[in-house]
Amino acid sequence: MEVRGLTKRFPGVVALDDVTFAARAGEVHALVGENGAGKSTLIKVLTGVHHPDQGHLVHQGEPVSFATPLAAQHAGISTIYQEVNLIPLMSVARNLCLGREPRTRFGLIDFGRMHREADRTLREYGVQVDVRRPLRELGVGAQQMVALARAVSVDARVVIMDEPTSSLEPREVETLFGVIRRLRDRGIAVVYVSHRLEELYAVCDTVTVLRDGRVVHTGPLAETDRLTLVSLMLGRPLGEVRAEGVTKFSGAHDTGQEPVLFAEGLTRRHQLHDISLRIRPGEVLGLGGLLGSGRSETAKAIAGALPLGSGRITVAGTALRTGSTPAAIRAGISLLPEDRKAEGIVPGLSVRENIALAALPRLSRFGLVSDTRIDAVVDTFMKRLRIKASGPHQKVGELSGGNQQKVLLARWLAMHPKVLLLDEPTRGIDIGAKAEVQKLIDELAEDGLGVLLISSDVEELIEGSDRVVVLRDGAVVGELSGDDVTEDRLMQAIAAAAEEEAVTHG
Ligand SMILES: Nc1ncnc2c1ncn2[C@@H]1O[C@H](COP(=O)(O)OP(=O)(O)OP(=O)(O)O)[C@@H](O)[C@H]1O
Ligand SMILES: [Mg+2]
Repeated sequence: MEVRGLTKRFPGVVALDDVTFAARAGEVHALVGENGAGKSTLIKVLTGVHHPDQGHLVHQGEPVSFATPLAAQHAGISTIYQEVNLIPLMSVARNLCLGREPRTRFGLIDFGRMHREADRTLREYGVQVDVRRPLRELGVGAQQMVALARAVSVDARVVIMDEPTSSLEPREVETLFGVIRRLRDRGIAVVYVSHRLEELYAVCDTVTVLRDGRVVHTGPLAETDRLTLVSLMLGRPLGEVRAEGVTKFSGAHDTGQEPVLFAEGLTRRHQLHDISLRIRPGEVLGLGGLLGSGRSETAKAIAGALPLGSGRITVAGTALRTGSTPAAIRAGISLLPEDRKAEGIVPGLSVRENIALAALPRLSRFGLVSDTRIDAVVDTFMKRLRIKASGPHQKVGELSGGNQQKVLLARWLAMHPKVLLLDEPTRGIDIGAKAEVQKLIDELAEDGLGVLLISSDVEELIEGSDRVVVLRDGAVVGELSGDDVTEDRLMQAIAAAAEEEAVTHG
């Protein structure tokens, strides 16, 4: 699959500028670049979602044009989009077979066979679920696996993955890589988009770097080291990139003595078991653990988004009514949720409105909100997070995936909370802006905020946190502080808890 001289414009922006790109059979091709560089747009042109303004597509040696995504799919081009686009209310099995359900000889859907086949397919991907349940009851990671299994099981010649691992845990990522390698060995062309560089080196053969809609480099990945790749993506000299190091965190913070947040005995049937935490002003408390260990649930419980069986939460000395989001917000708790699509962004509203939405009460005086104050706040965050948009009035739905996330992050930061709960704050955010977000977290802590940090990026968790509480199966199983906050210790704590469990369960 090839594109030559491709140009795609949107009002006010050239998303792709004279791009030439080829995905070859039996090759895994990494497509990288900053948020808004044009990766998703290129994919959408390859798959018939967008039509190029200039240039053309070549598929298996023949010029082609795809009128619709379905036409591209029929030609053997399968895509897993950045956002899972399945049907949440339908069963897992139905989602997997949509459009090609097995039929009985009367032409009705053969549910028995559909369920058996779906179950078998998903097991190959390491997913064990009741395939009759609605898809939306699955975690985001499992949903992504369903999307992947679906894309691959149609007869694909080209498989395109736009940030497929953003919600997967390490074990699922390994499964995915196994699938990718099998596809490559079968002579399928794989295009792989990710902001996680170590993943690219694990699975990709070739790399193409996009910057501001232009191809700035194509070649074998093994010949381009990590720093060179970053400098190509950012368009900054190698020396400058090298001087910056891996993360932007500055190290330990000076923390106040009295905790700003006390959470005691948080308990919810089957999910949380007697979890107690305290966060001091100026402290970044990391929550460690694997997917399903209860990290997100703990954050949600503190933010009032999850009803509790029992437990007490106190913010700055005042007890909070649990299970109420408004009460938590009034008390000064902000949560950046994990599932941004479902719990946050309003695509039809502007960047400005999306940022200012929640901060309005704070920005108003005597019930009046001054436009200039809103403008100032919006402008500050657009600059600091380097949000790429034509301006504050562009609709958020038109921004690239990573830039939408930055808008959501800006919204919660603009609220000036006392306690900030961040669930995967840098997921999907490019390497340049990631450093910016990390710097911001540091500065917020220095301003006296209490921060709870959840990150599946272990490096980020370790370097960003002053202390780490380790969860497993909804319970606290360990705590690391001071010099013990290291990757090894974290892995040990998680593994030790697993062993203990194996012993007690025989
Ligand atoms: N439907 C649209 N309308 C207007 N502008 C758009 C639209 N889709 C994309 N753009 C713009 O095109 C540019 C490229 O966006 P694209 O989504 O391709 O970036 P990306 O490389 O996938 O970024 P990310 O890493 O954040 O996913 C951005 O400036 C974006 O705002
Ligand atoms: Mg994208």
